[in-house]
Amino acid sequence: MRTHNNGELRYTDVGKEVSLVGWVSKRRNLGGIIFIDLRDRYGITQIVCKPENPLYSVLENVKNEYVLKVSGKVLERESKNKNLPTGDIELDVQEVKILSEAENPPMIIADVTDALEDLRMKYRYLDLRRPVLQNNLFLRHNITKAVRNYFDARDFVEIETPVFGKSTPEGARDYLVPSRVHPGKFYALPQSPQLYKQLLMISGFERYYQIVKCFRDEDLRADRQMEFTQIDVEMSFVDEEDIYELIEGMIVKIMKDVKGVEVKTPFPRISFEESMDRFGTDKPDTRFGLELINLNDVFSEINFTVFQNVLSDNGLIKGIKVKGGAGIYSRKEIDRLTNEVKKYKAKGLAWLKYEDGFSGSISKFLTPEIENALVEKLELENDDLILIVADEEKIANTSLGNLRNLLGRDLNLIDKNRFDYLWVNNWPSFDFDEESNRYVAAHHPFTAPKDADCSKLLTEPEKCHSKCYDIVLNGYELGSGSIRIHNQDVQKAMFKAIGLSDEEVKEKFGFFVEALKYGTPPHGGIALGLDRLVMILCGASSLREVIAFPKSASAMDPMSEAPSQVTLDQLKELKLEIKK
Ligand code: AMO
Ligand code: AMP
Repeated sequence: MRTHNNGELRYTDVGKEVSLVGWVSKRRNLGGIIFIDLRDRYGITQIVCKPENPLYSVLENVKNEYVLKVSGKVLERESKNKNLPTGDIELDVQEVKILSEAENPPMIIADVTDALEDLRMKYRYLDLRRPVLQNNLFLRHNITKAVRNYFDARDFVEIETPVFGKSTPEGARDYLVPSRVHPGKFYALPQSPQLYKQLLMISGFERYYQIVKCFRDEDLRADRQMEFTQIDVEMSFVDEEDIYELIEGMIVKIMKDVKGVEVKTPFPRISFEESMDRFGTDKPDTRFGLELINLNDVFSEINFTVFQNVLSDNGLIKGIKVKGGAGIYSRKEIDRLTNEVKKYKAKGLAWLKYEDGFSGSISKFLTPEIENALVEKLELENDDLILIVADEEKIANTSLGNLRNLLGRDLNLIDKNRFDYLWVNNWPSFDFDEESNRYVAAHHPFTAPKDADCSKLLTEPEKCHSKCYDIVLNGYELGSGSIRIHNQDVQKAMFKAIGLSDEEVKEKFGFFVEALKYGTPPHGGIALGLDRLVMILCGASSLREVIAFPKSASAMDPMSEAPSQVTLDQLKELKLEIKK
């Protein structure tokens, strides 16, 4: 239909007879001359039509988003547009065919649009015409292509695993699918192919990967969708170092192929404890400083009941020093920061400004000794601001960790062109779940403990650490994995440690425990969130910008109106009834 696309023609093409197709992105009439921006996925080319042109009356009636075929001659533009690759030329129209008419679209179809997200989702097919979204999906495609080439070159096989599986406990809530053939029974959609990929190692495939959809019934957030895609990997006869090297190599290739950026390996590694201590989070954004500083020793003698109580309850007093922050943050601004830490259950945010002496919310409690200790420990200089939370360990860390991210954005400390990959490892094996009053697997119950900790699973679970690692990028958890348990006895002890009875294990994971008996190779793996990687590499702030047809924050599709009711007949077939 066409000789060229709309991103293709240059000055060197002047004089050529060409045919183009595309959508009318904009039509304007300047001094009697009609200009049309014709858009396809490759770009935009300007079409011109002067009043004496016999096609003038046709083009006068063309509206936005009409689909046209235009033929004519490439001319040099009088006023060139440096911002457009085709900005040196325009097409003098000699023939036009309207391939499709269009109603007036409900939103502006351009990178900058006036449409709110709900409207964009309802007319997603129009939203997806916007070049910015198309480019995100092209980048996504280039990433998956790089991933497939990388694993293919290293002897990995892509094997598909079932979407209809068995509901297993742990992790997030399952999406359930009722069985018609077995009334009252349900399939579960996979939260990940975890057990299947381990079974493939038992089957002897040695190197598996899959770009795979996963499903989790969780509260949705900007970086969380109910269905999302993992780059899922499993390998036999490996230890942690092999996985680090493999995944670093993959990231190096993706960054080079897709972004033209060289990333250095090996990636930095820090332990979970160090990450919590320095950044107050297990997914630190290391593109800026503002690290958390423990001030327990500085305030050990302070005569302020709040701090004293925290110290005697083995809590933490931690602070962040904002260089030059005294002049930047007014009292009102500090109230805003206080609200941020309160979101994470902190009881307050104490603050001190150091400007020819100390002032601030707790200055009246400072003694000369404390003041000296503060100056020395924080290396204070004139105009510095200190923000302090005193609370139990988790609250102090989490609230300040989030405050740190807010300050980083506030103070423009984040270089948007930087990609900081790092590993967080040496995780505790268990979290204590207050609600059910038992230990739960911090990662999943197939994660191997450190060799030295295998014997402590049942006696000192709180002291056990795992062969588990997260890969973090710019403050996002990008992926997570572990070396797995391949020894049946250790697996039994692990289930016992998280309070699963023999019957529960048999009922939930019987097939898997059985499989472990028949010669299981040592193995391990990882899964990376593809959507998150694409989002960060696109510089987008939500997964919805990098998924063609995402769900809204309330787990809906405003376009198709899913989820929706089904007929009584459908329910009847499934032997289901909706209770009012
Ligand atoms: P995990 O549960 O940590 O590990 O998931 C791996 C990665 O998947 C991404 N991710 C998500 N992305 C978007 N929306 C979601 N709701 C969502 N949930 C997770 C994250 C995360 O780091 N089977 C194990 C991996 C293994 O041990 O090999 C697993 O699924 O980027
Ligand atoms: P008060 O003497 O009650 O006015 O408290 C002095 C300052 O301590 C106020 O700025 C409070 O916000 C702050 N504060 C109270 N509780 C905490 C806490 N747990 N951590 C940090 N600061 C706190």
